[in-house]
Parts: sequence; structure tokens; C-alpha cells
Amino acid sequence: MSIRADYVWFDGKLVPFDEANVHVLAHSLHYGLGVFEGIRAYQQPDGKAGVWHLDRHLRRFVDSMRMMATKLPYTQEELHEACLDTLQANGHTEAYLRPLSFLGMGQMGLGARGNPVHTIIATWKWGAYLGDDGLNNGVRLQTSTFTRHHPNAAMQRAKVVGHYVNSILARYEANDNGYDEALMLDQNGFVAEGTGENIFVVRDGVVSTPPVTNILPGITRLSVMEILAHEGIEVKEQFFGRDALYAADEAFMCGSAAEVTPIRELDRRTVGAGKPGPITKRVQEIYLAAVRGKVEWMSGHITKGR
Ligand SMILES: Cc1ncc(COP(=O)(O)O)c(C=O)c1O
Repeated sequence: MSIRADYVWFDGKLVPFDEANVHVLAHSLHYGLGVFEGIRAYQQPDGKAGVWHLDRHLRRFVDSMRMMATKLPYTQEELHEACLDTLQANGHTEAYLRPLSFLGMGQMGLGARGNPVHTIIATWKWGAYLGDDGLNNGVRLQTSTFTRHHPNAAMQRAKVVGHYVNSILARYEANDNGYDEALMLDQNGFVAEGTGENIFVVRDGVVSTPPVTNILPGITRLSVMEILAHEGIEVKEQFFGRDALYAADEAFMCGSAAEVTPIRELDRRTVGAGKPGPITKRVQEIYLAAVRGKVEWMSGHITKGR
């Protein structure tokens, strides 16, 4: 799928796609300090775009910049408008939105301060992140040999460009071994998250998910918890090991890109019945309907496009 579009929002202006360029000496390119978001817009019943939890994502973006001790030159409200402008300029009704702030060219070295802070917003069409088969029938995971960052090494609550080297190495390893995605454990051996998704397991009708200590506080994770609460299904935020997946009735992962994706296998062991379980299917069905404006009680979670 092509990531090309007509425009990219770049430092306050919509610029033609091929003119959205940076210098090779941009600081972030060398050292990895940048902050980003991944958001989805879906076509609504009126045919227009609707953005799922635009403000929760932008709040996390603002928070990530604060955690990186870097001043964002825009307010959350300005970025909200900019996201809608970009979608409209590109004529997208279904799209992935990518806000990114990074340090431009000026001084080199880790202690450099005062480099320009650039912000872009790109939008492109993106299908099922882990494939249609994964979304429908479940994905196969491998427990990664790479440990998630220690909380005192990288603040995993922030969505920081450089953190994703750890995710990429885990994803490469899993894919090279024939799996769809990696399951990442923390420094204590507890399940943390996928390389770009949060994790849920189901056992005896109770759903568990790791607490937000050293994982990305997923926006989809929160939506899933809201859906489960609405369905009267108990959710526990608690630590568990990979054995919880080996013994689970069902498991799934979720994220803005991955949406709600069932897990059918971990480390060559079948998870549950090896196909999407009833709670996973119910959550997926409600989520995919809600993002398209078809679930009344969640309609307030959508920002209407122009
Ligand atoms: C490491 C990581 N965990 C979890 C998630 C899921 O977060 P969200 O639902 O906000 O997309 C993502 C995706 O952004 C991620 O990169």
C-alpha cells in the first residue's frame, strides 16, 4: 500500500508531498529523539471521515514531548485542527494519521539544545496492519529474545522514535522465524506488550491485561476496556507471564494500527481453541463497528472530519 498522498502538513503549512523534506544532518536522524502518534480515521455513515479518539492521541503526543523535555511549538488544539486539515487536503475518508515532532539541523552532539523542533502530519491509506488473515483468524506470536526497555532506560509511556529500535529488532526476529509478531516480556519476565500492540488474555470469562507501568498506555487498550466494562465482563490489570497465554481460553492484541487482532498461537503452542474466541470476537465486532460510527454509546469517541 502506498504511503504517498497529495500533501504533508509541515510546520504549520500544507506542503506538496515531494517537498516535505529534511536535511541529512537533522539531529533526530542521528540520535533518535522524536515523538510520534499513530491514529486512524474511518469512513462514517454520512460518507465523511471520522477520527477515532483524536484528542486522546494528541494528549499522549503532548505528554510524550513533555517526558522528552522538549517544547512542542503547537498546542493540542492547533494539532487537532492540523490533523483534520491534512485529512481533508488529501481527500481521505479512511486513513492512518502520523503526527511526528523531531529535532532539525543546527548543532550536533547529545547535549545540543536549541535545535529547531519540526512537526509534521502525514496521512495515508493503510489496511489491516497484521494482515486480513490475522484480523479474521488470528496471528502467530513468538516470545521475543529481546527484553522490553527497563523503565529507567526508556520511558515506555512516551511514544518515542528511538524506542522503536527495540520493537523493530523483535519484529524482525519473529518474522524471520516465521511468526507474524513478537510477544515482548519486561525485565522481570512478565508480559509487556507486542512490538506495537497491547495484550489481553481471557480465562474463565475474566480478562487480564498488564498494568500501565512500563508499556505504552494504548488508546485502543482503553477503548477495549470500555467495551468490556459495557458488556459486563470483568477486566483485571495485573502482571502475568507467558504461561498465562499458554493456558488461556483466548488472547488478543490491540492497537490503532492492529485494531483488535486475535492471537491463535504462541511459541508453536495453540492458544485456546486456535481460533478467535467468543469474547475476542465480540470485542472486535464492537470495536470495528464503533470506529465506523455504528455504536451509539461510543459515537462521542469520534471527531468528525470536515
Ligand atoms: C509499543 C506499543 N504498544 C501499544 C500500542 C497500542 O497503542 P494504541 O492503541 O494507542 O495505538 C502501540 C501503538 O501505538 C505501540 O507502539
